[in-house]
Amino acid sequence: MLHEEPPVSHSVTVNDVGPRDGLQNQPKILVPRERVQLVKALLHAGMTHVEVGAFVSPKAVPAMAGADEVLAGLVDGTEAGTSVLTVLVPNFRGYELATAAGAKSVCMVLYGSDGMAQANVHMNREQAESATVDILKQAGVDGVRVTSTIAVAFECPFDGQVDPGLVRDIARRFLDLGTDELCVADTIGAANPQQVRSLTAGLIDEHGPDRISCHFHDTRAMGLANVFASLESGIRKFDASIGGLGGCPFAPGASGNVATEDVVMMLEQMGYETGIDLDRLMQAAELSKTLTGTAPGGRATAWLNRQLNKPGGR
Ligand code: COA
Ligand code: ZN
Repeated sequence: MLHEEPPVSHSVTVNDVGPRDGLQNQPKILVPRERVQLVKALLHAGMTHVEVGAFVSPKAVPAMAGADEVLAGLVDGTEAGTSVLTVLVPNFRGYELATAAGAKSVCMVLYGSDGMAQANVHMNREQAESATVDILKQAGVDGVRVTSTIAVAFECPFDGQVDPGLVRDIARRFLDLGTDELCVADTIGAANPQQVRSLTAGLIDEHGPDRISCHFHDTRAMGLANVFASLESGIRKFDASIGGLGGCPFAPGASGNVATEDVVMMLEQMGYETGIDLDRLMQAAELSKTLTGTAPGGRATAWLNRQLNKPGGR
């Protein structure tokens, strides 16, 4: 009897975290109106998931001040449609501020190490977990979507290598608690594709692909290789950042996220469907450069622009 492969989805979701993870670490601070402009350019390109800001202390992260204005500038617009616009919250206070401003989707951060939790939010791992439990309970009542992101899921800049068993344990507990999405984040870009393949294959085996996503930084040029490794494991949702913007101000050595345009180009060329228009995505990438002056741009930029400018390319 012929062995049939189980059906594998060829649809992949890309969540652009540039307006949050990207902009929080740029030397130039963008005002809410400019951040709205960038998000709208991403929505115009067909992106259905965008992380648009963070309700964090403006003293800790000045670039995220005015997240309420960003949300207000988006929910009124028709561009947002049914898109999932997420805001990061570091604690329950952030959750309250976010939902008061109209957020329907939040991202709360869990940690693979105490060192990173302390540096980022002045908590230990357990405290961040218990804040997430409280948020999940309240979000259940409020009908708010929650992503739980495990930061430094592979290596911490303070405490070193992270035990994959710990990450699997956190993932299991928070999926059981009903988080809508569990995101595995290589916050400093220290993971290699073999590690990524092994961890994500285990997670997919145990939980299936529907609620698991990955977040890679390109610090050591392994971002796309890590996307590929987790794609092969069955992951079908990725964070990425327009123009390769990014970095974490509290994680020494972290550089930008893998660029959205590179991820989308790779996926589309491999036959996956992202629903994203590459031409319009390049316009958003251009805008990220114009607005910040520092976005490196994806590695695909020059190549893609040449293709799009060929006769019949547009
Ligand atoms: N949003 C805005 N302000 C907040 C807040 C939030 N989510 N949580 C607390 N605050 C305010 C408090 O009201 C207090 O204000 P005050 O000084 O005017 O009284 C002040 O921040 C300090 O509060 P405290 O509870 O003592 O927190 P802290 O100084 O230990 O800082 C965080 C904790 C979480 C607020 C801060 O570290 C933070 O915002 N970190 C986010 C880091 C980040 O975004 N990293 C990148 C993304 S992963
Ligand atoms: Zn990140």
